[in-house]
Amino acid sequence: MQLNANQLAASKFKNGIASVVAVPGSGKTLTMTRRIAYLIQHYGIAPESILGLTFTRNAAQAMRDKLKHILNDIAAKVTLSTIHSFCYTILKNEGKVFELLHGVEQIRFIRSIMKKHKIRTLSPGTILREISLAKNNIISEYEFREIYLDDPTMEIIGLIYQAYETEKTNSFLMDFNDLIIEACELLRNNPEIQEKYQQTHRHILVDEFQDTNPAQAEILNLLVSRAKDSSFYVTGDDWQAIFNFIGASVGNLLNFQRTFPGSKQFILDMNYRSTPQILTACFNLIQHNVRKIDKSLLTENPDGQAVLVIDASNEDDEAIRITQEIQGLVSDKYEYRDVAILYRANSQSRVIEDVLSQNEIPYHIENGMTFYQRREVKILLNYLRLIHDPESVEGDDALKNVINAPNRYIGKKFIAELEEYAQHENINHLYESLKRKPVVVPYLKHNIREFIKLIDSLMQKIETAKPAEMIMMLRETLDYDRWISEDDIPSPDDNLIANLNELQIAASKYKDIPTFLNYTDSFRDQTRNDKAGVSLMTIHKSKGLEFPVVFCIGFVDGVMPNVCGDIEEERKIAFVGISRAMKLLYLSHATIRMGRPVKQSPFLDEILGLKK
Ligand SMILES: Nc1ncnc2c1ncn2[C@@H]1O[C@H](COP(=O)(O)OP(=O)(O)OP(=O)(O)O)[C@@H](O)[C@H]1O
Ligand SMILES: [Mg+2]
Repeated sequence: MQLNANQLAASKFKNGIASVVAVPGSGKTLTMTRRIAYLIQHYGIAPESILGLTFTRNAAQAMRDKLKHILNDIAAKVTLSTIHSFCYTILKNEGKVFELLHGVEQIRFIRSIMKKHKIRTLSPGTILREISLAKNNIISEYEFREIYLDDPTMEIIGLIYQAYETEKTNSFLMDFNDLIIEACELLRNNPEIQEKYQQTHRHILVDEFQDTNPAQAEILNLLVSRAKDSSFYVTGDDWQAIFNFIGASVGNLLNFQRTFPGSKQFILDMNYRSTPQILTACFNLIQHNVRKIDKSLLTENPDGQAVLVIDASNEDDEAIRITQEIQGLVSDKYEYRDVAILYRANSQSRVIEDVLSQNEIPYHIENGMTFYQRREVKILLNYLRLIHDPESVEGDDALKNVINAPNRYIGKKFIAELEEYAQHENINHLYESLKRKPVVVPYLKHNIREFIKLIDSLMQKIETAKPAEMIMMLRETLDYDRWISEDDIPSPDDNLIANLNELQIAASKYKDIPTFLNYTDSFRDQTRNDKAGVSLMTIHKSKGLEFPVVFCIGFVDGVMPNVCGDIEEERKIAFVGISRAMKLLYLSHATIRMGRPVKQSPFLDEILGLKK
């Protein structure tokens, strides 16, 4: 592949500081990879002295694969990593003793602190999100408390933030944000260590720089050597900055030349990915954003088909029409792996998964879990399983999965005792064992009695209640939605409650529980996770990727743009989605969604150039 003049100039950049500001599909990632190869092959730079940073592990892996193509074994000597995992390595190398605190453990940790401080008005998820946002912006617990002196809610969060930091340090734990902050501190306070890393990684390259946050900018600032024979090279596109909600600051890219006076800037505006029709659609859309750098979006690619819109009556119809299109494409010249279905929110995958699998179309969920495997969904399915069939091995597994969901303070030890008791007393299954086992600890006794009461009462309804009704009863009796969302650290593309609503809709199509469970079980098999199949993912996960055929679905008001989002940020998300397409772009929407009439997204007319 021949680089164009601007790409070539960027790829030959040797020493100093440079930014590449470009449009989607203009070869930012390609040029960055080529530059690494060029440094090694033409300037004789040691591969070990090159550090390439990307946003996700997948992106790092993709770059490694490409580099291997050019450099063979030498490629392995280049460090390609995410900023977080690079900081983890620094800290471990320098002898820091710590364990990573994340996921459920992190929720548990914060909950125990909240309990100590008797905080019941806020959820752990909300508190963790605020703490993380503050840390991404390098606001310490002390500064945080000062900033929010007059805000009662934030004052509480500040109090927890401070306790969280102290307890974490005392227990030798670090969360993801700490990796960066601690690495910054280590380098700042130890010039000899900083010098060592600057010496080792003389050439630092960062892809998707528009999505770095202030903490990441700070660690880069500390890592970058100012020596004459070194370089710092970043690449990004402000039109694709979609991680503001976690504190990413597109200003890092926009103000780059001010931050690094004398740095060189390369502009890539020739798109190699998409047809002129798709690019016009992208350009039409982004024009409606006020806050942006003006750039042109050129291509020399041959004409393709017009962007296609699917007007469906409801979500099922939308999924069916998409499936039919895919079948048509595959019988023509495309393969399943050429096709991606992109959506704004994770819960939108359910309808698509159902229809694809009914039609035996292989698919996989990129960087995520298929719908019926998601934790919040799986727990409810396990409740159904336990209620339906407590006298089975599956029932035993289901019981173990649900007994502590929501939290009943029943530990692993108790489960082990329960299993032992069953064996000793010759009881075949755990639910029976739970009913018979004497329990002395009062709160445990109470919680178990309540649990049994619930399951027994639901068992009596099993003949008459339909699966959807049963799910609704579980959600209500267990106060399940509240429990699930309290633990949730809100993410831009996942809404756990929306997943539960989708589950209920899926269940409403089945008359009895065993048939519904059989159906959801069928998703465990391999064809539902076929890498050679159609790719399903949220737009956020599709960053940097490209596919010959892209279906961007759910162009309805409230979904895309999302109800909670800032309109310009939402527009950039839609822009990232549609700019993944190489040859064919489909946009779909339904007139009825979840049983209610919905308006089509204003973005549709913008994309089609119908709104000036
Ligand atoms: N000079 C070129 N000649 C031919 N194809 C090219 C050239 N430059 C880039 N491409 C191709 O264009 C596509 C987009 O490249 P790449 O993914 O590097 O773009 P990008 O700017 O990083 O996009 P994004 O903004 O989506 O991350 C790839 O398929 C790449 O191989
Ligand atoms: Mg890229």
